[in-house]
Amino acid sequence: MTDSIRFLMCSPDHYDVDYVINPWMEGNIHKSSRDRSVEQWQKLYHTLKDHAIVELVKPQKGWPDMVFTANAGLVLDKTVVLSRFYHKERQGEEPYFKEWFESQGFTVHELPKDLPFEGAGDALFDRSGRYLWAGYGFRSELDSHPLIAEWLNIEVLSLRLMDERFYHLDTCFCPLSGGYLLYYPPAFDSYSNRLIEMRIPPEKRIAIEEPDAVNFACNAVNINQTVVMNKVSDNLKARLSEAGFNVIETPLTEFLKAGGAAKCLTLRVTEPIIPDRHATVLIETRTVRMEGHLLDAGLINQALDLIVEGGGSFKVQQFNLGEERQSTSNALIKISAPSHQVMEDIISQLIDIGAVSLDEDIQDAKLEPVTQHGVSPDDFYVTTIYPTEIRVNGEWVQVQKQRMDGAIAVKETPEGIIAQCKLLRDLEVGEKVVVDVAGIRTIRKTESREQRNAPQEFGFMSAGVSSERRVELIVEQVAWELRQIRDRGGKVVVTAGPVVIHTGGAEHLSHLIREGYVQALLGGNAIAVHDIEQAMMGTSLGVDMKQGTAVKGGHRHHLKVINTIRRCGSIANAVEKGLFKSGVMYECVKNNVPFSLAGSIRDDGPLPDTQMDLIKAQQHYTELLQGAEMILMLSTMLHSIGVGNMTAAGVKMVCVDINPAVVTKLSDRGSVESVGVVTDVGLFLSLLVKQLDKLTSRYHLEV
Ligand code: ARG
Repeated sequence: MTDSIRFLMCSPDHYDVDYVINPWMEGNIHKSSRDRSVEQWQKLYHTLKDHAIVELVKPQKGWPDMVFTANAGLVLDKTVVLSRFYHKERQGEEPYFKEWFESQGFTVHELPKDLPFEGAGDALFDRSGRYLWAGYGFRSELDSHPLIAEWLNIEVLSLRLMDERFYHLDTCFCPLSGGYLLYYPPAFDSYSNRLIEMRIPPEKRIAIEEPDAVNFACNAVNINQTVVMNKVSDNLKARLSEAGFNVIETPLTEFLKAGGAAKCLTLRVTEPIIPDRHATVLIETRTVRMEGHLLDAGLINQALDLIVEGGGSFKVQQFNLGEERQSTSNALIKISAPSHQVMEDIISQLIDIGAVSLDEDIQDAKLEPVTQHGVSPDDFYVTTIYPTEIRVNGEWVQVQKQRMDGAIAVKETPEGIIAQCKLLRDLEVGEKVVVDVAGIRTIRKTESREQRNAPQEFGFMSAGVSSERRVELIVEQVAWELRQIRDRGGKVVVTAGPVVIHTGGAEHLSHLIREGYVQALLGGNAIAVHDIEQAMMGTSLGVDMKQGTAVKGGHRHHLKVINTIRRCGSIANAVEKGLFKSGVMYECVKNNVPFSLAGSIRDDGPLPDTQMDLIKAQQHYTELLQGAEMILMLSTMLHSIGVGNMTAAGVKMVCVDINPAVVTKLSDRGSVESVGVVTDVGLFLSLLVKQLDKLTSRYHLEV
């Protein structure tokens, strides 16, 4: 027996499953057997007594989970951090445990109310006492970790629990003597797994599989080379014995019904203590301010979800609710994250939804020089479609050429600082790039309740996907917009796929071009080929467009068309020679509407106009998109998404596709100006043309 090791246990006199606060308790209310639980507990008690001293705390009626003394608190030397239970079902245990610790002469630290921490159930020392692993995510709050670090003067490593079956750290994580670690990796997020792998060398990591995990193999009591647990597979037993451990199995099935086993039923009150410890935590905290229709627009939920899903934790320090329908709310949110990197990820997402990092109000954006052409310094801020400003030399500078998936390049010129979004490949040596998340803010329009709730009146505001019934409504809105843009000399860009031609949309799109509603056309090789095939031969991919039937040998038509155009040198030359007299490409040439055809791997030909150098094609697209007020995206996922990435918020986008997935994908960019229409594109275009004609004739009547 090792005299220096002592445990605290609590006999199961009042033990039962009385309520459900973890998934194991579900369906087990009052299903544990009194006799068997006493017998199993006694067996564990005697087993431990063979190896250590076991103290007892008096069980209390009405507090059935008090048997799980691991949750009494966290002990180091003569100090204890008392648990603050997350669930009210266990909060009544706190005073009894406190009394016991005080009677034993411990210095007791108590966490503030509403800062849950469930003791040694969620915090485990590495067995040499150098640092503390602390879990969060279900029962304990991340913000408790810095206090624990301070009170116990120890380094704390925070681990995020992801699987609700393993709601306490000790259900899936067990440091063993000699630097070994028995654990179940899928219970943790990837950041935590990396942290574990950084601290524990591979030969010391004993990762277990699910069958052992659900038998609570990690919920083991380790005393020197002995490991006591509920149940172990032969394989795991062999691995543990290879590592020098002797496993003692003692069935604890009655306690599994409450979600606990050997380790939960014990609290080690003598922990190895090394003298030169230092309180350190990787945890970072920051404060952000948000303003707008926080409740109405769901922004506050979005922000808080984002923090928690990102592995952080929050405290809403202030919330001023706008009282009138029109008034905005504002909030101050304190965020904690287990590391700088996790914090950065969270903050950059919060910036995207309009939060302003308070600590950065007085900070400039961090800039780092580009040292290799076309490559950014690591850690660069990834841009979004929203208007962005960065702070340089104390001044907020508007970022130009806003688009998503770029970096912000900053140049000092005699005229002042110029900041602009650039693709990685365009970064030049000598430029500086914004890194980290300091000194960056995005400007979001505050969307009012009226705008959001009235998509029927104005679909652009809804960022939503329409139902069939709404198609006509949207057609009316789009027609109205097209008409206005044309009349004020604005710009509309169309991206179109070959489906426009197959569905009979060519004549309608041609009409739009002829009538001056389209200022640029973007597409691929196929739309042009099929359009010209239809104009020259009446078929589209060999299908007769009037009869709807396949023409014998028609599948060669499109290659003949390609060949003809190639002979002419360009589509424009072919039009000039009078080789075809209708269609989308014909109208573009005739009406001086610039077009860009971007190539792809599957292109036949290609047409001489098709740009097979994709970097050049992307550049050409960007040029043609400059100044666009509206983009009609007609059945082309590839080109529409490409265009979406290049376009800043504020440009109205109408995406028409028969495939809801495409439409959803584009409205997912979340900009309020985009609207999706799930319908046949040919039908959509015909409705649009009809509606425009109506508008035009009414206009004429009025004149
Ligand atoms: N029913 C208890 C609860 O949900 C079980 C506690 C198990 N203890 C532990 N350290 N894992 O709180």
